[in-house]
Amino acid sequence: MAACRDVTRTTSAAAPGSRRTCSARSATSMDIGWIGLGNMGGPMTANLVAAGHRVIGFDLSEAAKAAAADNGVVVVDSVAAAVAGADIVFTMLPAGGHARQVILGEGGVLASAASTTLVVDSSTIDIATARELHAGAAAAGFAFLDAPVSGGVSGAAAGTLTFMIGGEDAVLDRARPVIEVLAGRIFHCGGPGSGQAAKITNNMMLGITLQATCEGAVLAERLGLDSKVFQQLAAVSSGDSWALRTWYPVEGVVETAAVNRDFEGGFSAALLRKDLGLALQAGEETGTDLSFAQAVADRLETIDAHGWSGKDCSVLVKLVDR
Ligand SMILES: NC(=O)c1ccc[n+]([C@@H]2O[C@H](COP(=O)([O-])OP(=O)(O)OC[C@H]3O[C@@H](n4cnc5c(N)ncnc54)[C@H](O)[C@@H]3O)[C@@H](O)[C@H]2O)c1
Repeated sequence: MAACRDVTRTTSAAAPGSRRTCSARSATSMDIGWIGLGNMGGPMTANLVAAGHRVIGFDLSEAAKAAAADNGVVVVDSVAAAVAGADIVFTMLPAGGHARQVILGEGGVLASAASTTLVVDSSTIDIATARELHAGAAAAGFAFLDAPVSGGVSGAAAGTLTFMIGGEDAVLDRARPVIEVLAGRIFHCGGPGSGQAAKITNNMMLGITLQATCEGAVLAERLGLDSKVFQQLAAVSSGDSWALRTWYPVEGVVETAAVNRDFEGGFSAALLRKDLGLALQAGEETGTDLSFAQAVADRLETIDAHGWSGKDCSVLVKLVDR
């Protein structure tokens, strides 16, 4: 497997917080099929429309479809209609089973698109399914990438996601003009499934640092510290993490934190639980001790028992601050 490397072209990376805009379709405008218009797919497709691409989208949820239509996505009623005539198709779905059904299944992407269509799965899924998708695509004559992302809903909206790519260089070069609209950084991690390997490992670390941030936030408050000041202090000290800067779970401290919206939207506890499950499975397969990941996964079981799986995963703070 090739070494994982940063293949971002610095001139094309978005400035953090910026959003690309382009009022008219340019000569390089593409027809993009998009399946999965949820918390991530919604803002990602909005950015592609703003950049001048024609996006034809499908989702099972009427609410997701309506929101996408408001953002200029041409919403259709089936996977087949979304991918017909597309230059490139993206899937942004909850888990491996959904991606397998939508890409390999009856009436799915490979059955409905022309084999010249480039297919990119940006969902976070297990490595084995990602490899199955690569193999299925290759057998049907399609070019395919596993291309999961990091950066959350805020990174999706800002067009600053980190892309982790598994697949061939030449295929990545074809997808690059579209990915660059969505990405701050692009890493080519190696062959089939290696993007997912990187993503699963990253999200395991996110789960652990989120739990640490929840415990720290509650302890700081109970020790009488000002939460805003403590968050700022920790962000430039050794307690820093992405979770601390983006999801600090005390109201009114960090604008992007879901705690400000009663944990609605964002990255659901169910999806983090899925990702930790994938990491624990990979830990078993490689004989790696992942005891902290296991502890957070156990807490997410409790979150599920409370009926909070649909809430943003920073709802974990409620188990600390009972
Ligand atoms: N939310 C985040 O912060 C975040 C960050 C990075 C990566 N991810 C990953 O991105 C993926 C999507 O996450 P999300 O937060 O957007 O999830 P989401 O649940 O908000 O969106 C997924 C969408 O897929 C749709 N869907 C499911 N099955 C479908 C099918 N058969 N056909 C068409 N549409 C279907 C659902 O209706 C939903 O709207 C997940 O794999 C997640 O792990 C999420």
